[in-house]
Amino acid sequence: METIRVNLGSRSYNIDVQAGGLANIGDWAAAFPVEKKVLVVADENTASLFGEQAAASLQQVGFTVTLAVLPPGEVAKSLAQADVLYARAIVAGLDRNCPILALGGGVVGDLAGFVAATYLRGVPFLQVPTTLLSQVDSSVGGKVAVNHPLGKNLIGAFYQPLGVLIDPQTLLTLPEREFASGMAEVIKYGLIADAEFCRVLAAQAEVIGRRDLQQMAQIVAHCCQMKAAVVERDEQDLGERMLLNFGHTAGHAIEAAGNFERFTHGEGVALGMIVAARLSELQGLVPAGTLQTVRDLVAAYGLPTMATGLNPADLIGFMGSDKKREGSRLRWILLAGLGQAKIQSGINSNQVEEALQAILTVE
Ligand code: GLY
Repeated sequence: METIRVNLGSRSYNIDVQAGGLANIGDWAAAFPVEKKVLVVADENTASLFGEQAAASLQQVGFTVTLAVLPPGEVAKSLAQADVLYARAIVAGLDRNCPILALGGGVVGDLAGFVAATYLRGVPFLQVPTTLLSQVDSSVGGKVAVNHPLGKNLIGAFYQPLGVLIDPQTLLTLPEREFASGMAEVIKYGLIADAEFCRVLAAQAEVIGRRDLQQMAQIVAHCCQMKAAVVERDEQDLGERMLLNFGHTAGHAIEAAGNFERFTHGEGVALGMIVAARLSELQGLVPAGTLQTVRDLVAAYGLPTMATGLNPADLIGFMGSDKKREGSRLRWILLAGLGQAKIQSGINSNQVEEALQAILTVE
């Protein structure tokens, strides 16, 4: 088992990465100073894959378990579903020391965390992320949220969990497309913070693509380590943490322009990283050829490198409504080299339009 400590003073916690760890979820949860009554939140997929095993393990160590099963997909990340979970918690008699445990991907974690942050003004929160994307990104750092009809993640909080348990074996259950989407966030860490990691990802795409458990455990732990270091320095997302949004400015716009159906979040990020790499070249921050390096890395994991048919004006319009804007200016996260990123403001839209051609026009 590898343990990564997230040092945040009184809100510090461990991320335990352990292949097969899900089988011991009861012992793991029982080690926290919580009451033995737990609301486990899963979606239909994770409930049927892991719900029974998790509930049995928790019951074995004395927990009374209430399992709440959400509909699958982003639609569950709503105030209406939060309300359903509040009702389950009240009816089950959860008091302030009873934990809420998220068993699933990013949607489950974000919603369960939001409910944990607000039910009785905050109850203990335990995270057991089961997708690659949630293991390397959304389960680390305490961002919890629900969507609003006017935008994604607009209602939320920073609410750190008591602990995170990651079992890379859960990755074996992911559809190919979802695994690749998670790899987009893995690639992101290399591009913004670790050139050597980029080289490993490029050289070992085939074996990583086979989801070798030992290698996946190392990769997930390395990404959590990188994210934890950033979160420790900027928990509230006021400076350095924004670098984690590399690829997300264009990525969110691409997801929105595809009606959140054509592209997954990870695919949007992969395409967004290509746009940002091109913009970094146009800004003279990186040598020519960086765009091709990013494209090759993305393609090596079966992620899209083109989004033909989307309209650049539409994309720029969606970027204008991105919540990461700063007044009327858009903040872009650009590369300052392979393995280095920086925040750049005030880029004119003509240059953004030119960068977008990297994913819109076949050369
Ligand atoms: N997903 C970016 C962050 O947690 O800040």
